[in-house]
This record gives sequence, structure tokens and C-alpha cells, in this order.
Amino acid sequence: MKKIIVIFSICLLFAGGINAQDIKLPAPQTTGGMPLMEALSKRQTTRTFSNRDVDRQTLSNLLWSANGFNRPDRRTAPTARDRQELELYVALSTGLYWYDAKAHTLVQKSKKDIRALTGQQDFVGVAPVNIVIVGDTKKQDVEKYYYLDCGYVSQNIYLFCASAGLITVARGLFDAPALSKALELPRTHAIVLTQTVGYSK
Ligand SMILES: Cc1cc2nc3c(=O)[nH]c(=O)nc-3n(C[C@H](O)[C@H](O)[C@H](O)COP(=O)(O)O)c2cc1C
Repeated sequence: MKKIIVIFSICLLFAGGINAQDIKLPAPQTTGGMPLMEALSKRQTTRTFSNRDVDRQTLSNLLWSANGFNRPDRRTAPTARDRQELELYVALSTGLYWYDAKAHTLVQKSKKDIRALTGQQDFVGVAPVNIVIVGDTKKQDVEKYYYLDCGYVSQNIYLFCASAGLITVARGLFDAPALSKALELPRTHAIVLTQTVGYSK
């Protein structure tokens, strides 16, 4: 009987396309939070990261705010010509993940902790979450557009952090070739920005 249950569970995992190491995020909490004017008043860059972890619900809310689907086929951040060309990679202590926004799931790409590789400032290896924002240049071939589109995602992260009591830093300072290699990005994908999220000491 035990054997049958194990085989059935494995079949279910494969049928759903979810690996054991993937993180199926809880549904985002899309109501409440801080009033917008208050969040704008508090939006700022802060670099005093502690190693305090971010729980699953907060991670869910953060990624949904950043670039999740707020309509069946549209997202919280706009994109020029609606190309939706930005992909979010998330470096956590448990590994590297790609944010599958449709499934609201973190798909594990590697079990390695590559947080320190996502930037050149000490806090990147300490903070629990480093987001790497990548442009698919096949979907959006006008460079200025994927840079501009990225700004909306970054500001969504800033405002969510202000509202949720988290701190964040948008980071243009990173070693693009090394990070592209760590992410195993194809040539068609360009890293636009990185952003660190966590709690202050
Ligand atoms: C595109 C962009 C790139 C940035 N790159 C870095 C960076 O590599 N490292 C860093 O510590 N801060 C970085 N920042 C944060 C800025 O230094 C910060 O936004 C600026 O000092 C203004 O502070 P404020 O965000 O609190 O208004 C970046 C900000 C932006 C918008």
C-alpha cells in the first residue's frame, strides 16, 4: 500500500510539472497593505541587511507585486508593446530559482547558493533574497524598452518593500558575464538589473 502511495505521489508531481525542489508559492495577498501615499513617502534605498529570512507568504507577495499576473494575461508592471519580456531569477540560500509568474511558482534551476555572485557589495551574500531581472531580447528587441520596463518592476519592488517593512536596493553594479554564466542564460537574454531584498539589522 505504502509503495502505491509513493508511486502515485511521484506521478502526480510529474503530471503537474513540479519538481520536489520547486517552491509553489501561496496565493499572493492582493488586498490591504500600506496606503499608496504612505508607501511612496517611505520608499527608499537601505543597505543595512540582516540575515533574517523572508517567509513564503512575504516572498509570494513580493514576487507578485514585482511582476505577477494581476489579470489573466497582464501583469502588475507594464511593458512596451505588451511584450512581457522580463524574467525574474531569485537567488535564495536554498538555491537559484526562476519565477514562473503564471504558475506563481519558483522553479529551481540550481541548488547552489549564488547570492554572493549577484553583486559586488558585501550585503548581497547576507540578505535572504536577490532578484535578477533579465530581458528576453527576442521578445523585446528594442534595448531601451527592456531597460525602461525593468524600471517599473524595480519600483514595484521598492513600493512593496516600503509597505511590508522590508528594505531593498536596486543594483546596477554586478559582473554581467559571471552572473549570466551562473544563471546559464542563453545569448538572447540580458541581465538588466539586480535587486536585493530583506530585513534591516
Ligand atoms: C538603476 C539603478 C542602479 C543602482 N545601482 C546601485 C548599486 O549597484 N548599488 C547600490 O548600492 N545602489 C544602487 N542604486 C541605488 C541608488 O544609489 C539609490 O536609489 C540612490 O542613491 C537614491 O536613493 P533612494 O533610492 O533612497 O532615493 C541603484 C539605483 C538605480 C535606480
